[in-house]
Amino acid sequence: MTRRLGLSLAMFLLLGFAATAGAQTQTVKPPGNDDCLACHGDADVKRENGTSVAVDEKVFAGSMHGPVACVDCHKDLAALQEFPHPEKLAKVACATCHDEEGVKYHDSIHSWAKEKAGLTAAAPACADCHGTHDIRGTDDKAGRVFRANIPATCGSCHQGVLEHYGQGVHATARKAGNDAAPVCADCHTAHTVQRADNDKFRLEVTAECGTCHSEVVESFRRTFHGKVTELGFVRVAACADCHGAHDILPASNPASKVAKANLVQTCSACHAGANESFVKYDPHPNPHSYQRSPLMWWVNRFYTVLIAGCFGFFGLHSALWFRRSWRNGGGRS
Ligand code: HEC
Ligand code: HEC
Ligand code: HEC
Ligand code: HEC
Ligand code: HEC
Ligand code: HEC
Ligand code: HEC
Ligand code: HEC
Ligand code: HEC
Repeated sequence: MTRRLGLSLAMFLLLGFAATAGAQTQTVKPPGNDDCLACHGDADVKRENGTSVAVDEKVFAGSMHGPVACVDCHKDLAALQEFPHPEKLAKVACATCHDEEGVKYHDSIHSWAKEKAGLTAAAPACADCHGTHDIRGTDDKAGRVFRANIPATCGSCHQGVLEHYGQGVHATARKAGNDAAPVCADCHTAHTVQRADNDKFRLEVTAECGTCHSEVVESFRRTFHGKVTELGFVRVAACADCHGAHDILPASNPASKVAKANLVQTCSACHAGANESFVKYDPHPNPHSYQRSPLMWWVNRFYTVLIAGCFGFFGLHSALWFRRSWRNGGGRS
């Protein structure tokens, strides 16, 4: 028993010694936020060239990264022992913590434009859409990526699109308080934005329209355009070819691409020589609605009756046949 106690005591002392030794070799503590803010918390701190390097402590503390250390993002200063630090520092790599978004972003037109097409300054990296020290969450009304603020965030670069979008039915519905109406990221995604003429995007966006307009998508699928689109052949008309993408308007609005007076022009984009009678073609037929598609309704009725009749007749026929063979002794054996 005493031997055991002695052993434990020895272990305790040994461990204690190891711990202090560890602390001694680990003398370099990364600089804390207070160390950085001693200079950067001063609103007047500037670079040699006069641009500000001030960081608003309150704004940072109120951001999603308030609890994060400065040097967790500005990693090249984590091992710094003595100030001042070098003038030029490495760019912050957000993806070291947000790898999922990093991987998605890497597949986007924005990443491609930045890295491959040389649009280094024009195309957005993470911080251009999210900010730097004022990053807020998706559920924070004051944040750049709060649902209602997304059009303004994307529109800061895509001004022409924002203008068209602002005139369309979806923005109008949003202004009227319908939060279900789509913003840029619903149709384009936030991180895997593709070129608009990309085939995959064209198919996906048609499916996206369908998440909210399921009935019209069903009717679209009944048409030649819809069937061919479904097969993955994308050069026929999808939703946006007839309705527009950003300036979509109800058919009752005379400025709509699908208003009666504009249909010839809309269809002519692909059907050279389209005329008044060509555009009588119904792009959203519904065999269950007599008012909408009387011919289809009749055909649908006819087939329903025909099929019911066939099954009824042959069903009866088989039943009688079975009864007969049962009586004749076929059932017993
Ligand atoms: C002694 C004052 C001081 C301290 C402490 C200090 N900085 Fe700086 N920092 C500066 C000055 C001055 C500049 C502008 C340098 C220049 O002239 O470009 C600067 C620039 C920067 C830049 C911009 C670099 C670039 O490439 O443009 C970053 C990022 C930065 N500091 C982060 C930090 C972090 C993080 C800490 C804490 C670990 C810190 N600083 C601590 C004074 C300081
Ligand atoms: C969530 C990551 C993150 C954290 C945490 C962070 N920064 Fe930054 N900081 C950035 C980004 C992004 C930039 C823009 C330059 C870049 O992309 O590297 C930047 C730029 C800077 C600059 C250059 C001036 C400017 O505003 O562009 C200074 C100075 C700076 N940070 C200081 C700090 C200090 C001090 C702290 C801690 C109080 C801190 N940062 C915390 C991401 C961060
Ligand atoms: C073109 C603008 C844009 C760029 C570039 C961008 N984001 Fe986002 N991000 C958004 C939008 C918009 C949302 C909101 C998503 C939503 O509501 O569907 C978002 C959401 C997020 C979220 C919240 C969780 C989520 O996925 O919804 C994180 C984390 C995030 N982004 C990190 C990043 C990182 C890291 C990068 C760089 C690798 C990046 N973002 C680049 C626009 C952007
Ligand atoms: C050191 C790790 C780290 C780095 C680097 C970092 N973040 Fe974060 N980020 C966090 C943590 C922790 C949170 C809060 C927890 C959470 O909800 O994920 C957060 C939250 C977020 C959110 C809010 C997510 C939501 O749920 O709404 C966004 C957006 C975001 N970060 C973007 C960025 C961007 C952009 C950068 C680069 C400028 C960056 N982060 C760099 C750790 C980091
Ligand atoms: C209802 C779905 C939808 C919404 C919402 C939407 N887009 Fe689009 N966007 C599309 C479609 C579909 C196309 C392809 C149009 C085409 O092929 O003519 C497109 C094309 C684009 C293009 C490339 C072609 C061009 O017109 O410049 C950009 C850039 C773009 N959108 C940005 C945005 C931005 C920014 C927003 C938000 C303000 C937004 N989109 C909202 C569906 C949408
Ligand atoms: C910092 C500026 C900037 C921001 C913010 C930005 N973009 Fe872009 N975007 C660009 C640039 C630059 C390109 C590539 C050049 C081009 O093709 O127009 C591009 C390309 C695109 C394209 C492909 C255009 C095409 O011709 O096919 C779409 C779609 C798009 N962005 C949508 C968005 C959406 C959605 C958002 C917000 C979530 C957004 N962008 C935010 C600058 C930006
Ligand atoms: C996130 C949901 C959502 C998505 C995605 C969506 N819409 Fe809408 N759409 C709405 C809402 C909500 C309205 C407004 C309905 C109202 O005000 O009665 C609307 C209205 C319309 C209208 C006018 C209809 C009317 O009755 O006034 C048309 C046409 C339309 N959308 C076409 C499209 C097309 C084409 C796409 C894909 C490019 C699309 N929508 C994507 C939700 C969506
Ligand atoms: C070949 C052209 C064409 C295609 C493709 C097409 N539409 Fe239509 N759409 C029209 C026309 C024309 C109307 C208006 C007359 C009518 O109701 O038939 C209409 C009506 C609508 C309406 C009702 C609008 C209103 O104001 O009442 C919605 C919503 C709609 N379409 C959505 C879609 C969606 C979503 C898709 C893709 C799945 C799509 N459309 C594909 C031509 C088309
Ligand atoms: C984006 C291009 C595009 C638009 C816009 C478009 N179509 Fe089509 N449509 C096609 C293609 C491609 C085919 C298959 C080739 C063909 O038969 O011409 C097709 C086939 C058809 C067919 C069946 C094939 C046939 O010729 O009998 C009809 C009917 C039709 N379209 C009507 C319309 C009407 C009406 C509109 C306008 C409301 C319209 N389309 C708008 C591309 C388009």
